[in-house]
Amino acid sequence: MCGIVGYVGARPALGIVVDALRRMEYRGYDSAGVAILDGDGGLAVEKKAGRLENLDKQIAEVGAETLRGSTGIGHTRWATHGQPTDRNAHPHVSADGRLAVVHNGIIENYSPLRVELENAGVEFSSDTDTETAVHLLEREYASGEHAGDFVASAYATLRRLEGAFTLVFTHADHPGTIVAARRSTPLVVGVGDGEMFVASDVTAFIEHTRDAVELGQDEVVVITADSYSITDFDGAATGGTPFHIDWDLAAAEKGGYDYFMLKEIAEQPEALESTMSGHLQDGRIVLDEQRLSDQDLRDVDKVFVVACGTAYHAGLIAKYAIEHWTRLPVEVELASEFRYRDPVLGRSTLVVAISQSGETADTLEAVRHAKDQKARVLAICNTNGAQIPRESDAVLYTHAGPEIGVASTKCFLAQIAAAYLVGLALAQALGTKYQDEVVREFTELEQIPAAVQTVLEQMEPVRELARSFASSDTVLFLGRHVGYPVALEGALKLKELAYIHAEGFAAGELKHGPIALIEDGLPVIIVMPSPTGRALLHSKMVSNIREIQARGATTIVIAEPDDEAAAAIADHLIPIPATPTLLQPLVSTVPLQVFAATVAQSRGYDVDKPRNLAKSVTVE
Ligand code: G6P
Repeated sequence: MCGIVGYVGARPALGIVVDALRRMEYRGYDSAGVAILDGDGGLAVEKKAGRLENLDKQIAEVGAETLRGSTGIGHTRWATHGQPTDRNAHPHVSADGRLAVVHNGIIENYSPLRVELENAGVEFSSDTDTETAVHLLEREYASGEHAGDFVASAYATLRRLEGAFTLVFTHADHPGTIVAARRSTPLVVGVGDGEMFVASDVTAFIEHTRDAVELGQDEVVVITADSYSITDFDGAATGGTPFHIDWDLAAAEKGGYDYFMLKEIAEQPEALESTMSGHLQDGRIVLDEQRLSDQDLRDVDKVFVVACGTAYHAGLIAKYAIEHWTRLPVEVELASEFRYRDPVLGRSTLVVAISQSGETADTLEAVRHAKDQKARVLAICNTNGAQIPRESDAVLYTHAGPEIGVASTKCFLAQIAAAYLVGLALAQALGTKYQDEVVREFTELEQIPAAVQTVLEQMEPVRELARSFASSDTVLFLGRHVGYPVALEGALKLKELAYIHAEGFAAGELKHGPIALIEDGLPVIIVMPSPTGRALLHSKMVSNIREIQARGATTIVIAEPDDEAAAAIADHLIPIPATPTLLQPLVSTVPLQVFAATVAQSRGYDVDKPRNLAKSVTVE
């Protein structure tokens, strides 16, 4: 949610900043802008509503030579306060035109600050909360306690701000210095050779350096071309957490695919393998940064899964496995609802927070609430050192590699696999499964990447089918047991990518309402339970198919190869390899991802950047 970058070095900043924005556009694409210091006291700003290409065109029109200099900041926006217009685009600049800021997050006390500033005669030129920060700093620098001292004035300004934010400041009188701060939303420093970066995400600078430093909560960094210093908001040195990025530029590029999302769908076997790799050692499940002892796990008497969006669906699926293996009650809740309803939590509750980005505000707040209530929190996350794992008692990383497409795909499968590992670790600690059973479940999970690969190789008929349904107004999805959350995920993918009204239902609920939606030719996608593993559910699903066909629905049925009943009645059949029931979502989801992406492409939409969405949502 908003991508921000700052560069100080010896090279021209403009190209570096714009390229960084291009890599972070997944975070928001309502508008984009840059501010470049020429080193002689000049500050040039260009910003434009819409996607980065609009800014590119504007820069070409004004001429890149007007944005010369080797200190620069940039921003790509997902609007919160104020419409996505030119006027509200970042950077925001002080009245004297010498100071520029970019911002991710929300300054929650911006209203009283704005009143205070307006009463003092400041004129605002945008509707954003961000602009308060630049005016406050301008006044501090002009006449505050630290007048003329850019860095000290920035600290004084930061101490007045409330909310969740990352801010990056630059001042025309101080080329070669950038001040950036983090409160809840992400900020990393990239340490180059004679150059330094700050950014929301390492993808911004991966091309230039793989050495990074993660800032913690309420930390400030001051960068110059060859130094960085990290402190708290009062200036006391803290230091940050250095780390090396273990993937390279190629992982953050499209690699021949038209869209990141298509590449990420194709990478799912590898993402699953990496997530599971190393977690079975000497016949026991080990979770990497566990920080929870076997005794802690034995003390668990209830599990809560909290997450948003696709990650929530991963939690819904994991519930079936964790309850089955551990006999512990598992509740799965939308993080945005969790903390507002006084859930029953205690020392023996394990809260599993699932988040690809590790920065989703709703999930982060749910984690904080759980910790306040003394629950143990284990994060499942794909982003090293993000805020959610930092604040959790333990973390299990999904090593899926960077996911750039806004709609989550490979991280979804990796999250399911990781949650299953948590379930097996609990079963092992609690003794609800014999050790050889734990190992057998893990071994079955290890077969899944190959099954996903098989599905991926059979996707051309699914793409054809998707193209033929691309003009549908409504598509329904039905599932039972673990197939039910898969149906929810299939519907979410279709609505977020193709902007089609799509809904997922538990097939048994059909007759309690949704069947009223069925009309002639309405496409209904059905995730079929295994005819052998779940014979009873399978036969009930066959009846459901007949019920909707009798009312005119066109059925697209995802089924295992030996499912003769499904093959006999389906209008269209999508075969998937047979798997143990609890693992079926890892393969049955894949055709639904491909279906949604293909429908969206047929309708001419950008599947990497669906309208109104952003990849990481750092506001509640
Ligand atoms: C956004 C994304 C979804 C994602 C959700 C949760 O809504 O568009 O794809 O599932 O956030 O994100 P997280 O990073 O917490 O997994």
